[in-house]
Amino acid sequence: MNHLELRQKFLQFFENKGHKLVLSASLLPKDDASVLLTTAGMQQFKPYFVGLKEAEKDFGSQNVVSIQKCFRTADIDEVGDDTHLTFFEMLGNFSFGGYFKPEAIEYAWEFLTDPKFLNIDKNRLFATFYNGNRTGTAEDTEAKQILETLPGLTKIMAQPDTDNFWGPTGTEGPCGPTVEFYVDGVEVWNLVFNEFYCHSNEELTPLPTKGVDTGMGLERLLVAVNQLETIFATDVFAPIMAKLTNLPVKAQRVVADHIRGVVFLLADYVRPSNKEQGYILRRILRRVLLHIHSSGVRLDELIETVIDLFGPVYPELVAEHQAISQFAREEADKFIRTLELGSKELDKLLQTHPKALTGQQAFNLFASYGLPIDFIKEKVPVNEAEFETAFAQHQDVSRAGVEEKFGGHGLSAGAVVSETDQQIITRLHTATHLLHAALREILGEEIHQGGSDINSERTRFDFAFPRRVEPDELKRIEDWVNQKIQAGFVIKKETLPYADAIQAGALAFFKEKYPAEVDVYTIYNETTGEVISKELCGGPHIQTSKELGTFRIVKEQSSSAGVRRIKAILE
Ligand code: SER
Repeated sequence: MNHLELRQKFLQFFENKGHKLVLSASLLPKDDASVLLTTAGMQQFKPYFVGLKEAEKDFGSQNVVSIQKCFRTADIDEVGDDTHLTFFEMLGNFSFGGYFKPEAIEYAWEFLTDPKFLNIDKNRLFATFYNGNRTGTAEDTEAKQILETLPGLTKIMAQPDTDNFWGPTGTEGPCGPTVEFYVDGVEVWNLVFNEFYCHSNEELTPLPTKGVDTGMGLERLLVAVNQLETIFATDVFAPIMAKLTNLPVKAQRVVADHIRGVVFLLADYVRPSNKEQGYILRRILRRVLLHIHSSGVRLDELIETVIDLFGPVYPELVAEHQAISQFAREEADKFIRTLELGSKELDKLLQTHPKALTGQQAFNLFASYGLPIDFIKEKVPVNEAEFETAFAQHQDVSRAGVEEKFGGHGLSAGAVVSETDQQIITRLHTATHLLHAALREILGEEIHQGGSDINSERTRFDFAFPRRVEPDELKRIEDWVNQKIQAGFVIKKETLPYADAIQAGALAFFKEKYPAEVDVYTIYNETTGEVISKELCGGPHIQTSKELGTFRIVKEQSSSAGVRRIKAILE
């Protein structure tokens, strides 16, 4: 069964059971500062699990089905074995207060074993349920009993929370006990029964409505259905692997995994940089380059192969084709130039330190030559914890440098400004929130503030966007803001726990480390109640729109590759 058939079967199966199809969300999570990248199908549905949004209203059903693009950095060191990937696709069916354990378990069993669907031999399957070892929770006897009724399922095992309790790691969100199905000893399907909200202090509180969140890796399922040895033998990898036959096996697998990630991240507007998502992209792309360097394998051919393979399923790859090739090529050119210099430097260091490098030495090679830690590690052991510390310090220093130079958001860092200037800056600060909202309104919700700087003359706003913003769009953005100013609005400040603010839909900067309690500024129309903008922010802001005047965009330009910069004033 090829991947296209498998996708179709899965979606049809659940559509026939009353699920509405929801398209994959971007790999860049929207309005969710708890993760850098989308790691699971449930991520775009978080607000429905916690009761902040209504599925019935948005999808016309309490049950939905999706195939979600995912990226997990946690597994990056496992890539090369038979089952682990960074980028992968997750098949999922979800219910937000509709069905619960009996249906979810029975649907899974039917889909896996029925001859009309996957027809997997029941002897190859086993299932696990939660044993209740975690304080405040009980053994999932209901799941156990349901599993016992499945005809032909002979192996059922209880497992602890480390296996059969799913929730967010290192942050917070919906969570609950799971049932997992294994084929030939490999986990393929994880059914999560969300009944709790896991707080960051590990406390559990019951969710208002129970929900189902299931996840099944497309690649692993292809292995199971076609009885293959490894995910790299499936048809979502075969054409890529065919281009890599002259590399060692592990390198083939790493390159095949990473190049898919590179293409999909670029298609979702991630750009190589030294921070967050951009750093993840840079790191996997450079790793591809290191492996294919002087092997005769061509980067652009690999990219074409991925786009040909997945273009029919993900139109964004076709739409972004040119940008993907261009950004990858530019990064590759830069990298290969410095790589050669860096290698020479590393060889020199190895003469005096042949056994190991300190984190600082490795970091210096990275900072000066872009030499990746992975490349260095292939030649000599490195103190990685120390490397990470040096890396983090470097980021803090560069951020502080920016604040010192520009006064951060206008008033921070003890910048000395006159009272009049302060008033102008405060007004521009509010105008910046309106600009952000207008950009999302006119250009699309994927727009996120990348950086901003305000002085008494203008506000400057950077955001990732693949092309210039056309004059007529700028005009619409300007008009939108002015129309909101004229219609009249007020600004409300609330201090909330960070998680509540995010759940309430407040926009946050991924980059910042926020304190436990944050200030949220909501701009809304007092008469109609319409919320125009909601953002986490240190302020200060004006109180009513009357103070703003007329908003005007004075410049739109490129600030760096893939990033646009708008300058605007208040007249
Ligand atoms: N959220 C669960 C997982 O990621 C099931 O979708 O495994």
